[in-house]
Amino acid sequence: MEQITLKIAVIDDEESARNLIKRFLDKEGYQVSTYADGLSFLRDIRKHPVNIALIDLQLPDMDGLEVLGKLKEIYPDCEAVIVTGHGSIESAVDATKLGALHYITKPCRKADICTMVDRVREKIQRRLENRRLSDALYSDGLIPGVVGASPAMREIFKVVQKVAQVNCNVLLEAETGTGKQVVARAIHDLSQRRKKPFVYFNCGGFTEELICSELFGHERGAFTGATSAKKGLFETAAGGTVLLDEIGEMSMSMQVKLLHVLQERQIIRVGGNHPIDLDIRIIAATNRDLKKSIEQGTFREDLYYRLNVVRIQLPRLVDRREDILLLCSHFIKKFNELFDKNVERVAPSAMKHLMHYSFPGNVRELENMIQRAVALSEGNEITLNDLPEVIRDLAWADVGDDTLVPLEEVERQHIMKVLEKTGYNKKLASTILKVPRTTLWRRIKQFGIDMNRG
Ligand SMILES: Nc1ncnc2c1ncn2[C@@H]1O[C@H](COP(=O)(O)OP(=O)(O)OP(=O)(O)O)[C@@H](O)[C@H]1O
Ligand SMILES: [Mg+2]
Repeated sequence: MEQITLKIAVIDDEESARNLIKRFLDKEGYQVSTYADGLSFLRDIRKHPVNIALIDLQLPDMDGLEVLGKLKEIYPDCEAVIVTGHGSIESAVDATKLGALHYITKPCRKADICTMVDRVREKIQRRLENRRLSDALYSDGLIPGVVGASPAMREIFKVVQKVAQVNCNVLLEAETGTGKQVVARAIHDLSQRRKKPFVYFNCGGFTEELICSELFGHERGAFTGATSAKKGLFETAAGGTVLLDEIGEMSMSMQVKLLHVLQERQIIRVGGNHPIDLDIRIIAATNRDLKKSIEQGTFREDLYYRLNVVRIQLPRLVDRREDILLLCSHFIKKFNELFDKNVERVAPSAMKHLMHYSFPGNVRELENMIQRAVALSEGNEITLNDLPEVIRDLAWADVGDDTLVPLEEVERQHIMKVLEKTGYNKKLASTILKVPRTTLWRRIKQFGIDMNRG
C-alpha cells in the first residue's frame, strides 16, 4: 500500500504544548499547522483541509468537544484526537460519541503521539483503499444492491451514477415491483448525502391534513390532539433524501402546497409562522403515466416539471429477461441465509418456465416465487413443483414472443441462411460456419433441410 503524507492540525492555546507536538510531528515528516483557538481552526478547515486534528479539550473560545462536533459536521472525513491535561472518563466517552478516534493525556509523550498517528494513518489508508475498490466497482457499471446486467439496466446504472452526483430532483416512473425504491436508495447511497437520512413517504391513501403534518411537521396546539410540536419528514431528512412514493395519488390541492414548498425551498410547520429552510433532494416515484394524468387534469403540469428534472423509467422484467437468471441467484442467496437452506440453483426445466412467464408483478413477483420455493425446497435445486401454479401451468403457446425459440431453432435458421446465400454450396457453407463438412451434413439431415432447392 502506498504511503500518504498526512496533514495534521494542532489546536491548543498553550504555545509551548503546541510547539512541542509540532516539533515531534515535523520530524516524522508530517505537514503540521497550528491554531491557538477553535474558531480560527474551524474557519480555516474549509480552505485547508487536514487528515487529523489534535484538539485540546480546554480552549479559550470554545469547548474542545464543541470544536469536534462542528468539525465533524463540516468535514466528516477528518479524524480527530482529543488532547487534554484534565483527562476524565466522561469527556473521553463524549469525545468518542462525537466521533473522536482517540484520547491522549498531557503531558504528551512523543511515543504516544506517534503510535496514535500511525493508527489513524492505517484507518485513513483502509478507507482510501475501500473507496478505490468501490470506485472500481461503480466504474464497471455495477451498483451494490441493484441486480442487473442487461443493456436496459446498464443504461439505468449509468444514469443513476450521474444523477447521484448532482443535487437535483428525480422522477422515477415505472410499473409496480420494478425496483423504484431500490434505485432511489442507490441514488442516495451514491450521493454526497449518503451520511444523512433517507426518508420514505407514501403519498397514497392519506388525507391532506395528515400529509401536511407528516411532511411539514406541526406546532403544539396546531390541531386537536397536537399536544406537542413535531418535526416533519422534510425537517428530519435535512441534508438527506426524501422518496415521495405514489406521487400520482396526491390530491390537486396538496400538489399546490408541495409545489409552493419546492419553489420557495422553505417550509412552515402546520400552525406555525416561521419558515424553515429546506435542504433535501426529492425523488418522486409513481407507477402511473403522469403525462396522461396531466392530460386528464389530475396532475399539475408545473409540479411535474419541478419534480422531473431527471426522469428515470425502469424496464419491466419481461423487457430484460436476461436478468432473470441473475436475479434468481441473488434471491436464492438471500433466502438461503434467511431460512438456513442450501439451495444451489433453479433446475433447468423450471428455469425454462420462468424465462417464458410474463411477470406482471415484475421483480417483486419473482422474488416472492423464489422466497416460497427456497422455503419449500427439500433438495439443493428448485424444481417446477416448488414454483406456483402460474409457472407450472405455463403452456408454450403463452410465450407470446416468437423470437424466443430453442437454441436448436436458431442454429437451423442460421444454417439455412448460409446455405441459401452460398447457393447450397456445402463446401463454402462449412468454411463460413467453421465446422467440418461431416458436421454440416449431420445437421442438414437432423433438421431435414431440403438440399434440392439450390
Ligand atoms: N434490480 C433489483 N435488484 C435486486 N432486487 C430488486 C431489484 N429490483 C427490485 N428488487 C426487489 O424487488 C422488490 C420490489 O422492489 P421495489 O420495492 O423497489 O419496487 P417498486 O418499483 O418500488 O414497486 P411498487 O411500485 O410496488 O412500490 C424489493 O424486494 C426489491 O428488493
Ligand atoms: Mg415502491
